[in-house]
Amino acid sequence: MDILKNSLDVQSTCCQLQGTIAFVPTMGNLHAGHMQLVDAAKQLADHVVVSIFVNPLQFGESDDFSRYPRTLEQDIEKLKNLHVDLLFTPDAHHILPADINTTTFVEVPALSDILEGECRPHHFRGVTTIVNKLFNIVQPDVAVFGKKDFQQLMIIQHMVNDLNMPVSIVGEETVRESDGLAMSSRNSRLDPDERQRAPALFTALSAAQTRILSGDKNHHDIEEAMKSTLQQAGFKIDYFTIRNTANLAPVDAQTTDLVILAAVYLGSTRLIDNLSFSLQ
Ligand code: PAF
Repeated sequence: MDILKNSLDVQSTCCQLQGTIAFVPTMGNLHAGHMQLVDAAKQLADHVVVSIFVNPLQFGESDDFSRYPRTLEQDIEKLKNLHVDLLFTPDAHHILPADINTTTFVEVPALSDILEGECRPHHFRGVTTIVNKLFNIVQPDVAVFGKKDFQQLMIIQHMVNDLNMPVSIVGEETVRESDGLAMSSRNSRLDPDERQRAPALFTALSAAQTRILSGDKNHHDIEEAMKSTLQQAGFKIDYFTIRNTANLAPVDAQTTDLVILAAVYLGSTRLIDNLSFSLQ
């Protein structure tokens, strides 16, 4: 596996590769969820490129950029074992201007301002800007993202469509621990007691899904019931909401494709998860 830090080196290496490229952008601290993205990428193209970059543009002032887990040595071993062709691990100065306040931003309006965007202002602007830059450097044929970040996946798909970017976006199912907790780099921050309680989030999403599938159309009631259950279990709720999968708008009686999205705090750790399903 080649490991490169310099954007121009990555760009020229990728240009010279014969055949198609599948790309998996990450922020590192790789777990089984990331491994699934890489496995999917291997099925989709001749070469697999992975990036590891903890992107300061997508963290707000109160966010946890400095606390974000960084485990580069272990990540490299995992990617070598999966026979990834190229790992791009830029430092900030390799990929961002010295004064990041002067950078050009790529922004997807509307979708970026709700849910995660409302709780974390400018978060998605940071994501779309860095993904855009990474796409320009790697020039992949296909890029693979996890469905755990459902809104992120939708926004990236939008960006690619709106800007006619020549890359296919593939979403991979969320990988869960055996007790249902969605795999996430942030899970390592849960203390043993919080870790034991964390699967209640997936339990609440599943209970909401069961009520909807059994014909319950009182979505507001369902949301409030699940929020109250989670609050009683010690979670602080950012949102727990039932939305239309097509556009993340609130659902109505006609909506057949739904996604239940939630963001909660357990102690100081923020967890997000979702379940999408169809009523047809
Ligand atoms: O999902 C992530 O890990 C990040 O948001 C991404 C897509 C690598 C951009 O920094």
